[in-house]
Amino acid sequence: MLELTDLSKRFGGVKAVDQVSLTIDEGVVHGLIGPNGAGKTTLINLISGLLKASGGQLTLRGKSIDSLEAHQRARAGLARTFQNLRVYPNLTVSQNISVAASASASRTAGDHGKVIREAIRRFDLEDKQHLPASVLSYGHMRRLEIVRALALSPSVLMLDEPAAGMNQQETEALVSGLEWIRDNHGCAILVIDHDLRFIMRVCEKITVMSMGRVLTTGLPEEVSADPRVIAAYLGDSADGHLI
Ligand SMILES: Nc1ncnc2c1ncn2[C@@H]1O[C@H](COP(=O)(O)OP(=O)(O)OP(=O)(O)O)[C@@H](O)[C@H]1O
Ligand SMILES: [Mg+2]
Repeated sequence: MLELTDLSKRFGGVKAVDQVSLTIDEGVVHGLIGPNGAGKTTLINLISGLLKASGGQLTLRGKSIDSLEAHQRARAGLARTFQNLRVYPNLTVSQNISVAASASASRTAGDHGKVIREAIRRFDLEDKQHLPASVLSYGHMRRLEIVRALALSPSVLMLDEPAAGMNQQETEALVSGLEWIRDNHGCAILVIDHDLRFIMRVCEKITVMSMGRVLTTGLPEEVSADPRVIAAYLGDSADGHLI
């Protein structure tokens, strides 16, 4: 559904993303992992249009999106959260969500409105709707970002480290939240995280990046047993397991 072909991004001499080709299939939870600096966030920035690619092509449902600006890509169905939180601190929880919902014109009525109300409940934001986002705990801010991105009614939801800073109980709730989104919303989810247990649990497919390139894409059990992946994470001499 979302197709990346030879996508590249250079920052001066650094090849942050180097000829990455990848397909994100409809309705699949797709993990994106790799060591620090591998190019994961840059890849999401290229997909969402925050950064201009140095080379390569992007198509969504067979149509080129290369010339679309970030806000047009969001309208076309590409929604994301940020590694560093970007909720509007002075707006309430529900205002944060309705700003996003209003950006996805005519999608707030009917079924979509129902899905969002249910998402608010599932992500434990129901009794916090009238609070300013600034008073939320870090874990709840991360959840607000997810519900806000979902309010755009995306076909691909991209999450940059949603489990970062969450305790075990919060991560557990996040796992079931993402499963609920997959089963009820039908969008694909591209999720970056360093918590490999979390990734292995929620993802049906995983892509591993290292130094800007795709090392491999496969099923969780294939990826976690792949010696190249273990070496990228733990060094060549490693004889251990990934998790
Ligand atoms: N705006 C920028 N200007 C210059 N270099 C950048 C910029 N953004 C990223 N880079 C470089 O590109 C490479 C990839 O960075 P990126 O943030 O995409 O990695 P990442 O896989 O998301 O890492 P992390 O797991 O630490 O979040 C790194 O070498 C980084 O220093
Ligand atoms: Mg990153």
